[in-house]
Amino acid sequence: MPHSLLKIGLAGFGNVGAGVYKNLEKNRDILRERTGRDLVVHRVAIRDPKKKRNVSLPKENVTTDLWDIVEDDEIELVVELIGGVDRAFEFVEAALKSGKSVVTGNKALLAERGRELFEVARENNAHIYYEAAVAGGIPIIKTVQESLIGNHIQSVAGIINGTCNYILTRMNEAGLQYEDALQEAQDLGYAEADPTLDVNGWDAAHKAVILASLSYGCWVPCDEIYVEGIEKVTKPDIDFADELGYIIKLLAIIKLHEKDRAIEVRVQPSLVPKGHILASVRGVFNAILVTGDVVGETLFYGSGAGQDPTSSSVIGDIADAAARCNNPGGLGFVTHDLYGKPLKVEDSVSKYYLRVQVVDTPGSLARIATILGDHNIGILSVIQPEDHDEETAPVALTLHFAPFGRMLEAKEKIARLDCVSDEPVLMRVEAI
Ligand code: HSE
Repeated sequence: MPHSLLKIGLAGFGNVGAGVYKNLEKNRDILRERTGRDLVVHRVAIRDPKKKRNVSLPKENVTTDLWDIVEDDEIELVVELIGGVDRAFEFVEAALKSGKSVVTGNKALLAERGRELFEVARENNAHIYYEAAVAGGIPIIKTVQESLIGNHIQSVAGIINGTCNYILTRMNEAGLQYEDALQEAQDLGYAEADPTLDVNGWDAAHKAVILASLSYGCWVPCDEIYVEGIEKVTKPDIDFADELGYIIKLLAIIKLHEKDRAIEVRVQPSLVPKGHILASVRGVFNAILVTGDVVGETLFYGSGAGQDPTSSSVIGDIADAAARCNNPGGLGFVTHDLYGKPLKVEDSVSKYYLRVQVVDTPGSLARIATILGDHNIGILSVIQPEDHDEETAPVALTLHFAPFGRMLEAKEKIARLDCVSDEPVLMRVEAI
């Protein structure tokens, strides 16, 4: 059956815009099956047509005028990735007024003027989708909006700026100075073109405002929250924190104070105990701990910045918009036959742990090793405690990657050796 086209206007072709274009092309077939529509970028508005780009665009689709997108009646959905507040506001407002729904990754726009834009969207029966505005590739917006809808959100604590987390991690682990770590983050494309909003805490603060507003159903004004950045964090602080058993993280805290029905929203560098789960979030990764009165604690972890992870969220929103226009059933469960059958467990590959109880005589271990070798299974380590007091001794081996079927055959042969007294124990070693 032919699929109807969903024509998209893409405003902005920077790091994320180019990623959206590239990945929409790359995964066109699966998106078509799942949404029932052919998602086509019909027009792209770029600022500088002479700029060299890694992703090439057909000339006829390119414009330098944002209003070409708003005025194109064939375009149903607008993707705003131009950044900034005032110009983006005018553009998104005009798109909504012309009845087009909008996907945006613009956290500053939503934090500062979201209240007005959602009003315009309501009046024009259009939607605003904004998964990419918070925590890059982590689907935290839909989680709070949909999956946790039955909860009062009690608190949200997050590492939601990848650049700051990258800088703090490099200062902590590689002893880098702040400036060098920032330069690395920029070279890797994590920091914004102007990294001021990253390091002064406001990128995280805008995301916190969006999460707080979504969690509590009211727009939290930006000028009523407390924000500190990481510019003043120094190596001696990092070292002291380490000695005391802590690690420094830029944390966004959103907390409901039930008694006075107030919402605490703040962003600050904070010492986190090394044993806490957020302490293990390194590099550009983000993590968000959401506590609800029904669900309890939940943790969401992933890449908070970067071309592909952020475009994954934008594309998720595009697909959501496509499915809502076309398919009353939404994306609940869509059958297709693009993939084959489930993998047979015998073909699944992992490392293994094998414990064998052997008669304590010369040659036992060699016979086990021979069987493993015959099955092309490598030995990673072997432990046999010296002080066993029975006639048999335990031997614990860790084994290299091998298909489960082959591993089972080897285990059965080992079990049948006359020097093996008990059924061997086999477990997988997973490195997910
Ligand atoms: N520059 C941001 C970060 C990603 O480092 O997390 C987009 O908000």
